[in-house]
Amino acid sequence: MQNLNTYYELSQVPAMDFSRLTISLFFALLISTTTAVDPCASESDSSDLSVIPIYSKCSPFNKQTNSGSWVNTVINMASKDPDRVKYLYSLAAQKTPSAPVASGQRVLNIANYVVRVKLGTPGQLLFMVLDTSNDVAWVPCSGCTGCSSTTFSPKTSTTYGSLDCSMPECTQVRGLSCPSTGSSTCFFNQSYGGDSSFSATLVRDSFHLATDVLPNYTFGCINSISGGSVPPQGLLGLGRGSMSLLSQSVSLYSGVFSYCLPSFKSYYFSGSLKLGPLGQPRSIRTTPLLRNPHRPSLYYVNLTGLSVGRVWVPIAPELLAFDPNTGAGTIIDSGTVITRFVVPIYSAIRDEFRKQVKGPFSTLGAFDTCFAAGNEGIVPTITLHFTGLDLTLPLENSLIHSSSGSLACLAMAAAPSNVNSVLNVIANLQQQNLRIVFDVANSRLGIARELCN
Ligand SMILES: *[C@@H]1O[C@H](CO)[C@@H](O)[C@H](O)[C@H]1NC(C)=O
Ligand SMILES: *[C@@H]1O[C@H](CO)[C@@H](O)[C@H](O)[C@H]1NC(C)=O
Ligand SMILES: *[C@@H]1O[C@H](CO)[C@@H](O)[C@H](O)[C@H]1NC(C)=O
Repeated sequence: MQNLNTYYELSQVPAMDFSRLTISLFFALLISTTTAVDPCASESDSSDLSVIPIYSKCSPFNKQTNSGSWVNTVINMASKDPDRVKYLYSLAAQKTPSAPVASGQRVLNIANYVVRVKLGTPGQLLFMVLDTSNDVAWVPCSGCTGCSSTTFSPKTSTTYGSLDCSMPECTQVRGLSCPSTGSSTCFFNQSYGGDSSFSATLVRDSFHLATDVLPNYTFGCINSISGGSVPPQGLLGLGRGSMSLLSQSVSLYSGVFSYCLPSFKSYYFSGSLKLGPLGQPRSIRTTPLLRNPHRPSLYYVNLTGLSVGRVWVPIAPELLAFDPNTGAGTIIDSGTVITRFVVPIYSAIRDEFRKQVKGPFSTLGAFDTCFAAGNEGIVPTITLHFTGLDLTLPLENSLIHSSSGSLACLAMAAAPSNVNSVLNVIANLQQQNLRIVFDVANSRLGIARELCN
């Protein structure tokens, strides 16, 4: 397998908030003159939380000694995409509103980016996976049977409380119903990856996000895991449904958050999750968020077309249309690695791309359009056209490029063909080094260039 690196185009000058950059440089210099710098440490200010790719060097979940073949990691991660896309499609296609955690539903290992948070009083450090397509947060708790990593200990928190089965939140996660006499805590079971499952209690405790505290944050405390491998991290649901972080923090964050995902190659906690309207880019292009009442947690946008270089790719409008009844359309997701288009759309993009780049073309992992890297000078940019917003992908977001000099690949793929999916998913690799603002309050999504490697 080839060892690849992302293609870097130095002329792509990021849109940045220079005042903030100046301030953080100032502090970085100040700190570096007084203390030895821990390259894996991260600063955070106000409501910013640092974000790191899960398999990067400074991540506690990086078990491999870094062999430098991060692209193999990307390819391995991307090999889980078809299951993730199937899962998202199964959510999107549901005819009835589904619970934020529906028992019997498949939830997949989508651990791509993690944030550091603290839970309880005093705060206990935990790592949680960012997931924009789920609502509920869950965390492995102490005493958990089958959990493998750091757990949260409710006993040592003075602000911990469980939720009674009669509370409306319990109904929302489809907890087991209350016994006919008396009451009990809210238990729920979640099936996982087909053959595995976990059981959890719905609880609440203080949630520390950088310098902010959310008192009484409701989340699932995992008590036992059976079968397979439920991911060792907690999961932070950033969807837009009723149990998500956004919905539980409206008074604090007004339904707004953004993230900048660093490259998978990035070692450090250099990405950020910003919660609330303060500190978001002031001028940013936006596109409306579309609401699918059948699946309230997903972030749909109106993708109206695609260009390869100057060529507008011919795609039948029906293939791009948003349809809440079938789940068709395009979502932005933080848990899929490479962008997946339904087969006819992907084929049209790929064919146009191949027309403009010299072959021959070969395949590598999920990528079916790899070519001699010497041709990168003529590689066309790819533009996603949304209502009110054109996103021209920086080349590092559309190509995976060989440092050993031989190969570059178009870093996108077709949706799995065996599920007849009608959903397009804009994924991590295409979101690197962009500030993506989810403004649920005003029902819009903003995108600006920002270097956060
Ligand atoms: C939930 O899991 C527990 C423990 O594995 C089991 O005893 C219980 O029957 C399960 N309940 C449901 C509704 O699946
Ligand atoms: C948290 O919820 C508990 C139980 O409903 C309540 O007694 C307490 O006052 C709440 N705390 C805050 C800070 O809202
Ligand atoms: C998406 O954009 C197309 C083209 O501008 C428009 O016809 C369609 O109504 C839009 N769909 C939604 C749901 O806004």
